[in-house]
Amino acid sequence: MTPYKLDSRAWQESWDRQQEAFMPDREHRFTAMLDVVDAVLPDAAERSARILDLAGGTGSIALRALARFPSAEVTVADLDPALLAIADASLAGRATLVTADLREAGWAERLPHRGYDAVLTATALHWLTPQRLAELYRELTTVLRPGGVFVNADHMPDEALPDLSRRLVARADARRDARYATGAVLSWHDWWDRAALDPVLAPLVEQRHRLYSEPHSSEWLPPASWHLDALRAAGFAETGVVWRGGTDAAVAAVTTEVVVTPA
Ligand SMILES: C[S@@+](CC[C@H](N)C(=O)[O-])C[C@H]1O[C@@H](n2cnc3c(N)ncnc32)[C@H](O)[C@@H]1O
Repeated sequence: MTPYKLDSRAWQESWDRQQEAFMPDREHRFTAMLDVVDAVLPDAAERSARILDLAGGTGSIALRALARFPSAEVTVADLDPALLAIADASLAGRATLVTADLREAGWAERLPHRGYDAVLTATALHWLTPQRLAELYRELTTVLRPGGVFVNADHMPDEALPDLSRRLVARADARRDARYATGAVLSWHDWWDRAALDPVLAPLVEQRHRLYSEPHSSEWLPPASWHLDALRAAGFAETGVVWRGGTDAAVAAVTTEVVVTPA
């Protein structure tokens, strides 16, 4: 009998569809994030730029970064063993995978490098408490090289549009529910139920449920202005919004360049 092998391509595709149900413009934000890397590192396609896909899950950003910057040295850091197994099979040795819990201050010690050119993260850091996220932003200033860039894309409403933002979220929820009702796409819970039926993923999904048994602060979704204030307080030199799609946004922050003055 042929041993069962994880079909990483199929799992990757179904993960993307499941995530796109929440974010129909998901690819746009990834492109905007990689445009930032391109702007900071114009030669990124040729040189081995160090890119960290933070809380990268199945390696969505890592895969797109490698497609655009084939010589990049990419790291994916995440805690979820099931998603990391899909990342491992999809990336097939083209990236370093690191198991790290961002809730813990020492997570960065597990990284293979210091001095990353770019740290990119999407739809993930809202799982952390506000206090922990502010600390993580401080830690990232040491993970990055001077002049390196951090980009975080997530649900980050514009606080100047409170009523319109509520309406946009309600409209998006209704559209997603309609898609779930027709079976057009799997919901988050259905996706995990399906993963628990895969012979390779099943034990990892069980492990994952134990790792994430504490309720996370998933309802804490501050406006972009909170992130910009926290990034400035963390010591980043330049901070701002580089992409917005409705109530989601991507904020970018650049660490201070070391200026060497001739003696
Ligand atoms: C919705 S997924 C997004 C994954 C990926 N960035 C993407 O866009 O496809 C959120 C990710 O955050 C990771 N995550 C959440 N809390 C974490 C923690 N404390 N430490 C490490 N990773 C964490 C999850 O395991 C998951 O992979």
